[in-house]
Amino acid sequence: MRERSVKGASFVFVGGSGGIGLAAAKAIASRGASVVLVGRDSARGEEAARAVREAGAREVAWVSADVSSVAGVAKAVEEIRASRRAIHGLVHSAMTVSFRRATTADGFELAFGLQYLARYALNRALVGELAASGDGRIVHIGGKAPPGLVPDFEDLQFERRRWSLLPALMSSQVLGYLHVQEAAKRWQGLPVTASIACVGMTKTESTMRGPFWVRALYGLAGARPERSAENVVRLLTAADATPARGAVLFDPKRYSPTPLSYDPALARRAWELSERLVRERGLALGPGRQGGAAQEADSPAGPIAQNR
Ligand SMILES: NC(=O)c1ccc[n+]([C@@H]2O[C@H](COP(=O)([O-])OP(=O)(O)OC[C@H]3O[C@@H](n4cnc5c(N)ncnc54)[C@H](OP(=O)(O)O)[C@@H]3O)[C@@H](O)[C@H]2O)c1
Repeated sequence: MRERSVKGASFVFVGGSGGIGLAAAKAIASRGASVVLVGRDSARGEEAARAVREAGAREVAWVSADVSSVAGVAKAVEEIRASRRAIHGLVHSAMTVSFRRATTADGFELAFGLQYLARYALNRALVGELAASGDGRIVHIGGKAPPGLVPDFEDLQFERRRWSLLPALMSSQVLGYLHVQEAAKRWQGLPVTASIACVGMTKTESTMRGPFWVRALYGLAGARPERSAENVVRLLTAADATPARGAVLFDPKRYSPTPLSYDPALARRAWELSERLVRERGLALGPGRQGGAAQEADSPAGPIAQNR
C-alpha cells in the first residue's frame, strides 16, 4: 500500500505505554515521527518512551493521565496541547480489564467510561488539532462486535441488568462504532478520518494478567502485539485515508475497510448523550457539527508543515 510520509509528524497514543498501542507507536516512530504516549504508570511510561525513542522517533513525550475520568481526559488534553498544535494521528488503546463490575471516578461502568466515553471526549476535544495537521487520523483499537448488536440505551451502566464482562465490553465497542460513524458525518468538511481497527486475541499485559484459563488461552493462541498493530499502522500511514473514513477493519490480517451503517438515529443519540455527559463534567469540547471547526483548524498545509 502507498504510504504518506509521517517524518516529523505528531502522533498521540492513548494507552501507548504497553501492548498493541506501544507496538503501533514503535512502528510509527521507526518512520521518524514524533510520538506522545499517554498512560497512568510513569515508570512504565518512561520505559515505553525509551523504547519508542530507540525505534527512531524524532521526539517522544510522556503524559501521565488516567483517562477513565473526565478530569483525567482534561489533564491529558491540556498537556498534549501544550506541546502539539497539530496532531496527525490519535490512537486509542487504553484498556483495564476488571472481572467484576467496576466504576470510574465519575461513577461510570469501567468499560463505558474508559473504552468508550474517554475516546469520545478526547476525539471531540482534540479535533481542532487533528484538523490543523491537514490529514488527522483517529484510530480506535477494538474488538469485533457481533453484527446487529445494539447497546441498551436505557441501561448503559448495567445498573438494572446483571453485569458481565463480555456484554459490557461489547456495549462499549458498539458505542465506539456509532461514534466513528457519526463523526464521519459531522466532520465531513474537516480533514479528519475516524476508523476502527479490530484485533483478535493478543498476548498483552491485560490478557496475561487474567485468570489461569485466560492466560493459558491467550498464551497459546494470542497474536504478538506487533502483528495486531499492523492495521493500526496502515490506517495511520495510508496515502489515501478516504476509504477508512467512518469504517471498521474487522479482519486484523487484511486491510479491508467496511463502512459502518448503523441506524443514523442511534448514532446521533449516542453522540448527544455522550456530549451531555462530558459537558456536565466540565470538559470543553471541540466542534460537534460539520464545518464547525473551520475557525479552529489552521489552513491545512500538508502532514508536517504545522508541526511545532
Ligand atoms: N489484547 C487483546 O486480546 C485484545 C482483544 C480485543 C481488543 N483489544 C483492544 O486492544 C486495545 C489494547 O489492548 P492491549 O491488550 O494492548 O492492552 P494493554 O497491553 O493492557 O495496554 C493497555 C494500555 O492502556 C493503559 N491504560 C490502562 N488504563 C488506563 C487509563 N485509565 N488511563 C490511561 N491509560 C490507561 C496502560 O497503561 P497503564 O496501566 O500504566 O495506565 C497500557 O499502556 C484495547 O482497546 C482493547 O479493547 C485487545
